[in-house]
Amino acid sequence: MAILKIDNLHARVEDQDILKGVSLEIKGGQTHAIMGPNGTGKSTLASVIMGHPRYEVTKGTITLDGENVLDMSTDERAKAGLFLAMQSPQEVPGVTNSDFIKSAMNARLDEGQNVSLFSFIRELDEAVASLKMDENLPHRYLNDGFSGGEKKRNEILQMRMLKPKIAILDEIDSGLDIDALKIVGDNVTAMKNQDLGLLLITHYQRLLDYISADYVHVMMQGRIVKSGDTDLMRKIDQEGYDWIKEEAGIEDERVVPEEKEDILLGTCATKEALEK
Ligand SMILES: Nc1ncnc2c1ncn2[C@@H]1O[C@H](COP(=O)(O)OP(=O)(O)O)[C@@H](O)[C@H]1O
Ligand SMILES: [Mg+2]
Repeated sequence: MAILKIDNLHARVEDQDILKGVSLEIKGGQTHAIMGPNGTGKSTLASVIMGHPRYEVTKGTITLDGENVLDMSTDERAKAGLFLAMQSPQEVPGVTNSDFIKSAMNARLDEGQNVSLFSFIRELDEAVASLKMDENLPHRYLNDGFSGGEKKRNEILQMRMLKPKIAILDEIDSGLDIDALKIVGDNVTAMKNQDLGLLLITHYQRLLDYISADYVHVMMQGRIVKSGDTDLMRKIDQEGYDWIKEEAGIEDERVVPEEKEDILLGTCATKEALEK
Protein backbone atom coordinates (compact mmCIF):
# COMPACT_ATOMS: atom_id res chain seq x y z
CA MET A 1 0.00 0.00 0.00
CA ALA A 2 1.36 3.39 -1.05
CA ILE A 3 1.88 6.22 1.41
CA LEU A 4 2.49 9.80 0.31
CA LYS A 5 3.70 11.86 3.25
CA ILE A 6 3.92 15.63 3.06
CA ASP A 7 5.43 17.28 6.12
CA ASN A 8 5.62 21.00 6.86
CA LEU A 9 6.02 21.85 3.18
CA HIS A 10 7.02 25.39 2.29
CA ALA A 11 7.43 26.52 -1.32
CA ARG A 12 7.87 29.76 -3.21
CA VAL A 13 7.65 31.09 -6.72
CA GLU A 14 9.55 34.18 -7.82
CA ASP A 15 10.46 35.21 -4.26
CA GLN A 16 6.87 34.92 -3.12
CA ASP A 17 6.12 32.32 -0.45
CA ILE A 18 3.05 30.35 -1.50
CA LEU A 19 2.98 27.17 0.57
CA LYS A 20 3.47 27.87 4.25
CA GLY A 21 3.60 24.57 6.09
CA VAL A 22 1.39 21.94 4.44
CA SER A 23 1.24 18.55 6.16
CA LEU A 24 -0.82 15.74 4.70
CA GLU A 25 -0.65 11.95 4.57
CA ILE A 26 -2.44 9.99 1.86
CA LYS A 27 -2.53 6.22 1.99
CA GLY A 28 -3.58 3.71 -0.67
CA GLY A 29 -7.32 3.17 -0.47
CA GLN A 30 -8.00 6.65 0.90
CA THR A 31 -9.60 9.60 -0.86
CA HIS A 32 -8.73 13.06 0.41
CA ALA A 33 -10.27 16.28 -0.82
CA ILE A 34 -8.70 19.70 -0.57
CA MET A 35 -11.23 22.47 -0.83
CA GLY A 36 -10.74 26.19 -0.63
CA PRO A 37 -11.35 29.48 -2.38
CA ASN A 38 -9.22 30.69 -5.31
CA GLY A 39 -5.65 31.76 -4.72
CA THR A 40 -5.10 29.75 -1.56
CA GLY A 41 -2.29 27.54 -2.95
CA LYS A 42 -4.12 24.37 -3.98
CA SER A 43 -2.70 24.09 -7.51
CA THR A 44 0.72 25.11 -6.23
CA LEU A 45 0.66 22.14 -3.87
CA ALA A 46 -0.17 19.83 -6.81
CA SER A 47 2.65 21.32 -8.92
CA VAL A 48 5.16 21.02 -6.10
CA ILE A 49 4.27 17.37 -5.50
CA MET A 50 4.94 16.65 -9.21
CA GLY A 51 8.16 18.70 -9.22
CA HIS A 52 7.25 21.63 -11.45
CA PRO A 53 10.56 23.48 -11.93
CA ARG A 54 9.12 26.96 -11.27
CA TYR A 55 8.50 26.23 -7.62
CA GLU A 56 11.26 26.16 -5.06
CA VAL A 57 10.78 24.06 -1.96
CA THR A 58 12.29 25.99 0.93
CA LYS A 59 11.38 23.72 3.83
CA GLY A 60 9.71 20.42 4.63
CA THR A 61 9.63 16.96 3.06
CA ILE A 62 7.64 14.81 0.65
CA THR A 63 8.12 11.04 0.64
CA LEU A 64 6.45 8.23 -1.27
CA ASP A 65 6.79 4.89 0.50
CA GLY A 66 9.72 6.35 2.40
CA GLU A 67 11.57 7.52 -0.74
CA ASN A 68 12.49 11.20 -0.96
CA VAL A 69 10.25 12.61 -3.68
CA LEU A 70 11.98 16.02 -3.65
CA ASP A 71 15.15 14.35 -4.94
CA MET A 72 13.33 12.97 -7.99
CA SER A 73 12.80 14.59 -11.40
CA THR A 74 9.20 14.93 -12.60
CA ASP A 75 9.75 11.85 -14.79
CA GLU A 76 11.01 9.83 -11.86
CA ARG A 77 8.02 10.92 -9.78
CA ALA A 78 5.68 9.67 -12.52
CA LYS A 79 7.60 6.40 -12.69
CA ALA A 80 7.34 6.06 -8.92
CA GLY A 81 3.56 6.18 -9.30
CA LEU A 82 2.56 9.82 -8.84
CA PHE A 83 0.04 11.25 -11.27
CA LEU A 84 -1.43 14.74 -11.72
CA ALA A 85 -4.51 15.56 -13.75
CA MET A 86 -3.87 19.23 -14.34
CA GLN A 87 -6.34 22.06 -13.89
CA SER A 88 -5.38 23.29 -17.39
CA PRO A 89 -3.87 20.42 -19.42
CA GLN A 90 -1.13 21.41 -21.87
CA GLU A 91 -1.54 21.09 -25.63
CA VAL A 92 1.26 19.13 -27.27
CA PRO A 93 0.98 19.41 -31.05
CA GLY A 94 3.08 16.77 -32.86
CA VAL A 95 2.62 14.00 -30.29
CA THR A 96 -0.45 11.83 -30.62
CA ASN A 97 -2.42 11.14 -27.51
CA SER A 98 -2.02 7.37 -27.76
CA ASP A 99 1.76 7.59 -28.40
CA PHE A 100 2.04 9.83 -25.37
CA ILE A 101 0.17 7.38 -23.17
CA LYS A 102 2.11 4.40 -24.55
CA SER A 103 5.50 6.03 -23.88
CA ALA A 104 4.41 6.99 -20.37
CA MET A 105 3.39 3.37 -19.75
CA ASN A 106 6.64 2.01 -21.22
CA ALA A 107 8.65 4.43 -19.11
CA ARG A 108 7.24 2.79 -16.00
CA LEU A 109 8.43 -0.66 -17.07
CA ASP A 110 11.94 -2.02 -16.66
CA GLU A 111 14.56 -1.11 -19.26
CA GLY A 112 13.91 -2.89 -22.56
CA GLN A 113 10.34 -3.96 -21.68
CA ASN A 114 7.32 -2.64 -23.56
CA VAL A 115 3.57 -2.86 -23.11
CA SER A 116 1.97 -5.39 -25.43
CA LEU A 117 0.46 -3.49 -28.33
CA PHE A 118 -2.52 -5.81 -28.43
CA SER A 119 -3.51 -5.34 -24.81
CA PHE A 120 -2.66 -1.63 -24.99
CA ILE A 121 -5.10 -1.06 -27.85
CA ARG A 122 -7.79 -3.17 -26.23
CA GLU A 123 -7.46 -1.35 -22.92
CA LEU A 124 -7.37 2.06 -24.60
CA ASP A 125 -10.52 1.28 -26.61
CA GLU A 126 -12.31 0.15 -23.46
CA ALA A 127 -11.28 3.30 -21.61
CA VAL A 128 -12.34 5.56 -24.48
CA ALA A 129 -15.74 3.85 -24.59
CA SER A 130 -16.19 3.98 -20.85
CA LEU A 131 -15.38 7.70 -20.80
CA LYS A 132 -17.77 8.20 -23.75
CA MET A 133 -15.01 9.97 -25.66
CA ASP A 134 -14.80 10.40 -29.42
CA GLU A 135 -12.99 7.30 -30.68
CA ASN A 136 -10.63 9.47 -32.74
CA LEU A 137 -9.32 11.35 -29.73
CA PRO A 138 -6.46 8.91 -29.01
CA HIS A 139 -5.14 9.42 -32.52
CA ARG A 140 -5.18 13.21 -32.46
CA TYR A 141 -2.34 15.35 -31.12
CA LEU A 142 -2.38 15.54 -27.33
CA ASN A 143 -5.04 18.05 -26.21
CA ASP A 144 -4.60 19.96 -29.49
CA GLY A 145 -7.98 21.50 -30.29
CA PHE A 146 -9.69 19.40 -27.62
CA SER A 147 -12.64 21.10 -25.93
CA GLY A 148 -12.33 21.89 -22.22
CA GLY A 149 -14.41 18.84 -21.35
CA GLU A 150 -12.43 16.56 -23.69
CA LYS A 151 -9.16 17.66 -22.06
CA LYS A 152 -10.53 16.77 -18.64
CA ARG A 153 -11.79 13.36 -19.76
CA ASN A 154 -8.46 12.75 -21.43
CA GLU A 155 -6.66 13.28 -18.11
CA ILE A 156 -8.84 10.51 -16.66
CA LEU A 157 -8.09 8.35 -19.71
CA GLN A 158 -4.38 8.73 -18.93
CA MET A 159 -5.00 7.91 -15.29
CA ARG A 160 -6.89 4.74 -16.23
CA MET A 161 -4.08 3.59 -18.48
CA LEU A 162 -1.19 4.55 -16.16
CA LYS A 163 -2.70 3.14 -12.96
CA PRO A 164 -0.84 5.44 -10.57
CA LYS A 165 -0.36 4.76 -6.86
CA ILE A 166 -1.25 8.31 -5.93
CA ALA A 167 -3.42 10.43 -8.22
CA ILE A 168 -4.03 14.15 -7.77
CA LEU A 169 -6.99 15.54 -9.68
CA ASP A 170 -6.85 19.35 -9.77
CA GLU A 171 -10.32 20.81 -10.40
CA ILE A 172 -11.25 17.91 -12.65
CA ASP A 173 -14.84 19.18 -12.35
CA SER A 174 -14.19 22.60 -13.85
CA GLY A 175 -15.58 22.95 -17.36
CA LEU A 176 -17.58 19.72 -17.13
CA ASP A 177 -21.35 19.69 -17.47
CA ILE A 178 -23.34 17.37 -15.21
CA ASP A 179 -23.37 14.46 -17.71
CA ALA A 180 -19.60 14.62 -18.22
CA LEU A 181 -19.04 15.02 -14.49
CA LYS A 182 -21.03 11.85 -13.86
CA ILE A 183 -18.99 9.92 -16.44
CA VAL A 184 -15.71 11.17 -14.96
CA GLY A 185 -16.96 10.50 -11.43
CA ASP A 186 -18.05 6.95 -12.28
CA ASN A 187 -14.70 6.24 -13.94
CA VAL A 188 -12.67 7.52 -11.02
CA THR A 189 -14.87 5.70 -8.52
CA ALA A 190 -14.42 2.46 -10.51
CA MET A 191 -10.63 2.90 -10.19
CA LYS A 192 -10.74 3.17 -6.41
CA ASN A 193 -8.95 0.31 -4.70
CA GLN A 194 -6.55 -0.35 -1.84
CA ASP A 195 -3.57 0.48 -4.04
CA LEU A 196 -4.79 3.91 -5.10
CA GLY A 197 -4.56 7.02 -2.96
CA LEU A 198 -6.63 9.90 -4.34
CA LEU A 199 -6.30 13.63 -3.78
CA LEU A 200 -9.19 15.63 -5.19
CA ILE A 201 -8.70 19.37 -5.39
CA THR A 202 -11.92 21.26 -5.81
CA HIS A 203 -13.76 24.46 -5.25
CA TYR A 204 -17.16 22.94 -5.05
CA GLN A 205 -18.75 20.18 -3.06
CA ARG A 206 -20.51 19.05 -6.28
CA LEU A 207 -17.54 16.87 -7.32
CA LEU A 208 -17.70 15.04 -4.02
CA ASP A 209 -21.28 13.99 -4.79
CA TYR A 210 -19.79 11.92 -7.62
CA ILE A 211 -16.53 10.80 -6.01
CA SER A 212 -16.87 10.30 -2.29
CA ALA A 213 -14.06 11.51 -0.06
CA ASP A 214 -13.00 10.04 3.30
CA TYR A 215 -11.17 13.16 4.44
CA VAL A 216 -11.87 16.79 3.64
CA HIS A 217 -9.29 19.55 4.15
CA VAL A 218 -9.62 23.28 3.72
CA MET A 219 -6.71 25.30 2.41
CA MET A 220 -6.19 28.99 3.15
CA GLN A 221 -3.08 31.15 3.05
CA GLY A 222 -1.01 28.24 1.78
CA ARG A 223 -1.83 25.93 4.69
CA ILE A 224 -4.44 23.39 5.65
CA VAL A 225 -6.49 25.27 8.22
CA LYS A 226 -9.19 22.71 8.89
CA SER A 227 -9.71 18.98 8.34
CA GLY A 228 -12.77 16.81 8.75
CA ASP A 229 -14.99 14.38 6.92
CA THR A 230 -17.97 14.78 4.59
CA ASP A 231 -19.84 16.73 7.27
CA LEU A 232 -17.28 19.51 6.83
CA MET A 233 -17.91 19.45 3.08
CA ARG A 234 -21.66 19.72 3.63
CA LYS A 235 -21.25 22.62 6.03
CA ILE A 236 -19.08 24.45 3.50
CA ASP A 237 -21.71 23.81 0.85
CA GLN A 238 -24.41 25.33 3.04
CA GLU A 239 -22.53 28.10 4.82
CA GLY A 240 -19.52 28.90 2.66
CA TYR A 241 -16.02 29.55 3.99
CA ASP A 242 -16.55 32.63 6.20
CA TRP A 243 -17.03 30.67 9.42
CA ILE A 244 -13.74 28.84 8.85
CA LYS A 245 -11.93 32.14 8.30
CA GLU A 246 -13.43 33.47 11.52
CA GLU A 247 -12.48 30.33 13.42
CA ALA A 248 -8.91 30.47 12.13
CA GLY A 249 -8.66 34.24 12.63
CA ILE A 250 -8.05 34.84 8.93
CA GLU A 251 -9.18 37.98 7.16
CA ASP A 252 -7.87 37.35 3.65
CA GLU A 253 -7.66 33.69 2.71
CA ARG A 254 -5.41 34.22 -0.30
CA VAL A 255 -1.69 33.54 -0.16
CA VAL A 256 -0.66 36.66 -1.98
CA PRO A 257 -2.22 39.72 -0.35
CA GLU A 258 -4.44 41.81 -2.57
CA GLU A 259 -2.11 44.77 -2.84
CA LYS A 260 0.59 42.49 -4.27
CA GLU A 261 -1.53 40.93 -7.01
CA ASP A 262 -1.03 42.46 -10.44
CA ILE A 263 -4.75 42.15 -10.95
CA LEU A 264 -5.28 44.98 -8.48
CA LEU A 265 -2.94 47.24 -10.41
CA GLY A 266 -4.94 46.31 -13.48
CA THR A 267 -8.23 47.30 -11.89
CA CYS A 268 -6.85 50.59 -10.58
CA ALA A 269 -5.54 51.47 -14.02
CA THR A 270 -8.94 50.70 -15.51
CA LYS A 271 -10.67 52.79 -12.85
CA GLU A 272 -8.38 55.73 -13.51
CA ALA A 273 -9.00 55.43 -17.22
CA LEU A 274 -12.74 55.43 -16.63
CA GLU A 275 -12.57 58.46 -14.38
CA LYS A 276 -10.76 60.52 -16.97
N1 LIG B 1 3.87 30.28 -11.46
C1 LIG B 1 3.42 31.27 -10.70
N2 LIG B 1 3.90 32.54 -10.85
C2 LIG B 1 3.44 33.55 -10.07
N3 LIG B 1 2.51 33.39 -9.10
C3 LIG B 1 2.02 32.17 -8.91
C4 LIG B 1 2.43 31.06 -9.70
N4 LIG B 1 1.76 29.97 -9.26
C5 LIG B 1 0.95 30.40 -8.27
N5 LIG B 1 1.12 31.72 -8.05
C6 LIG B 1 0.39 32.53 -7.07
O1 LIG B 1 0.17 31.73 -5.94
C7 LIG B 1 -1.11 31.96 -5.40
C8 LIG B 1 -1.84 30.64 -5.26
O2 LIG B 1 -2.15 30.13 -6.54
P1 LIG B 1 -2.75 28.68 -6.78
O3 LIG B 1 -1.87 27.68 -6.14
O4 LIG B 1 -2.99 28.55 -8.24
O5 LIG B 1 -4.11 28.78 -5.98
P2 LIG B 1 -5.46 27.95 -6.12
O6 LIG B 1 -5.19 26.74 -6.95
O7 LIG B 1 -5.84 27.64 -4.72
O8 LIG B 1 -6.45 28.87 -6.78
C9 LIG B 1 -1.80 32.95 -6.33
O9 LIG B 1 -1.69 34.23 -5.76
C10 LIG B 1 -0.98 32.89 -7.59
O10 LIG B 1 -0.98 34.11 -8.27
MG1 LIG C 1 -6.06 26.00 -8.71
